[in-house]
Amino acid sequence: MDMSLTAAIIVQSSNNITKCRVAFFFLSDRVCSLNDYIIVFLPVKHRDLKMKHTDSTLMEKLTSLCKRRGFIFHSSEIYGGINGFWDYGPYGTALKRAVEQLWWSYMVETRGNVEGLDSTVICHPKVWEASGHLAKFGDMMTDCRECKARHRVDQMENPNECPNCGSDNLTEPREFNLMMKTFVGPVFDEDHAAYLRAETCQPIFVDFHHVRIAARQKLPFGIAQVGKAFRNEINPRNFTFRSREFTQMEMEFFCRDEESMDWYEYWKQERIRYYKEELQFDDEEIRIHDHGPNELAHYAKAALDIEFNFPFGWGELEGVHHRGTWDLSRHQEYSGESMEYFDQESNSKFIPTCIETSVGVDRTMLALLCHAYDEDTAETKKEGKAEDARVVLRFPAKIAPVQAAVLPLAKKLSEPAEKVYCDIRKYFRSEFDLTGSIGKRYRRQDEIGTPFCVTFDFDSLEDNAVTVRDRDSMSQERVSLDRIIDVLGKKING
Ligand code: GAP
Repeated sequence: MDMSLTAAIIVQSSNNITKCRVAFFFLSDRVCSLNDYIIVFLPVKHRDLKMKHTDSTLMEKLTSLCKRRGFIFHSSEIYGGINGFWDYGPYGTALKRAVEQLWWSYMVETRGNVEGLDSTVICHPKVWEASGHLAKFGDMMTDCRECKARHRVDQMENPNECPNCGSDNLTEPREFNLMMKTFVGPVFDEDHAAYLRAETCQPIFVDFHHVRIAARQKLPFGIAQVGKAFRNEINPRNFTFRSREFTQMEMEFFCRDEESMDWYEYWKQERIRYYKEELQFDDEEIRIHDHGPNELAHYAKAALDIEFNFPFGWGELEGVHHRGTWDLSRHQEYSGESMEYFDQESNSKFIPTCIETSVGVDRTMLALLCHAYDEDTAETKKEGKAEDARVVLRFPAKIAPVQAAVLPLAKKLSEPAEKVYCDIRKYFRSEFDLTGSIGKRYRRQDEIGTPFCVTFDFDSLEDNAVTVRDRDSMSQERVSLDRIIDVLGKKING
């Protein structure tokens, strides 16, 4: 925490309070008054200075930044785009891989009782019959006969009025199945129909015994998978929040029924810890929505959503679900294969109970972008650069798409600076940038969330040291080249 930074909230004290501004000072006095202003000085952390992500213009700013800087753009844009499908560009890909790797490390690699799986997207169609997706996985929808818009009935304020044009000329609500259908083999008929998976967990249930036996696991243990899921959403919206193709990170934890509520509580706490400690979300950015009795599936003892405060409102990031024995029982029933587990401890056979944690990568990334987006003005002045304002993505260093940018101060220095870059990139996601003034290059790196810039200047040739500039505090530190990997490693990985 940088306690030397002080924020002053300046409130016009005459008339009604119409203006409230925040400015930054390096003063030790806490309270003073000045003419018709009351000035209160508060010690703050950088995170406290962050603009609120409930700002109504934030989504526009984010989508534009994401496109401009190559994080996320519309799929097939040159053909007019395809609704609900998004491509990740170079920085988006790096961020996505880092998010997936962080989750994998937290949920699988650092635990002895969770195994990995990488299954196919297309499974035997009976998988989706057994899971219940073919019979009932959908929303009620209605079409407007006037403007031709299609709506999910549960999302309409008034189910008799089109939210698009206000007409009451709507079709009868009808069920719409979200499964994406395809055909396997040369004949396009119902006998060859198959489905793109609607959730990544079903193959985990189907492969339960294969994984258990191969990994020599005993209850309790989990199986995790990261991969694509597809849903023919009626109304994709809010950027990537509701897409038709998205990536899930799911973990199914199998246990004895009598211990299942303890495990449910354990995974709830683990997942909250992950958002607060690993992704560094603030307390007020996330909340838990416990499902009431009317929201619970008939087989579930408990369920909750972890929600994030997006600019468009609270939205589900992750579900933690007590799934009982539903999935394994159904696959046993539909396949005719036993899904029972022989428990040596109790010398009995039973179908294990399952606790699930299920999160979307795309929603996590959207939440991270909202959390990270910031604009500051006053602070940038101290760098004495032409621009006054900067846009900065304050990503945690561990997942930033570029963790260290190497910047030669002048083109002449590019050869020795590139050597430093080649060394650094073996350890961290790095970038080499020599175009534009140093101030412009800092701003460019701030905008993609690079936590550290390593500047190679003329002194570097003499003292074999570089300057490491911190994205958030903009403080600069001289570091000798023989310590640079260690210093960056400590800053990035803690
Ligand atoms: N296996 C349980 C399951 O799939 P879900 O609540 O339907 O549960 C889990 O989905 C997570 O997947 C959600 O919390 C969300 O993060 C993500 N997700 C679901 N539908 C999505 C969509 N259309 N677009 C983006 N992410 C989605």
